[in-house]
Amino acid sequence: MSPTAHNRVEVLHGVNLDMLGRRDPEHYGTLTLAELQTQIKRFGRELDLELAFFQTNSEGDYVERLHRLPEVADAALLNPGAWTHYSWAIRDALEIAGLPAVEVHLSDVSAREDWRRHSVLEGLVVDAIAGEGPEGYRTALELLKRELGV
Ligand code: DQA
Repeated sequence: MSPTAHNRVEVLHGVNLDMLGRRDPEHYGTLTLAELQTQIKRFGRELDLELAFFQTNSEGDYVERLHRLPEVADAALLNPGAWTHYSWAIRDALEIAGLPAVEVHLSDVSAREDWRRHSVLEGLVVDAIAGEGPEGYRTALELLKRELGV
């Protein structure tokens, strides 16, 4: 498909996701971010979606990426890491972007500490997928594909 087909999804990884492979394997598995992204790329190919990837540990950079997102993507798949639970700035930036979005967490955030149960993205995203590990990204891409109608 051409980029004008509205099938461009940006996968935005936030704070500490670059440390996958060194984080608690019980929650996050053993894949590095590069290995996880290789899997996500395969899901994207299978679903005929054009994917781009972004990761930062800087909240401001994440916000600025969201500001520019409508110029380069049709939808967003977000795993903002711990920012999910407290960054109202990221919620506002996603609202400004105005793109369909799905939130993904590798771990089951509902079965961990209380503070992980709340997401600032609630009500803004099409859905939130948690606890499915890397497969959760496939589920999220399927939801976005349906949302985009591609
Ligand atoms: C996470 C869950 C968050 O609570 C945590 O702070 C992360 C990763 C996940 O993918 O399970 O950094 O978003």
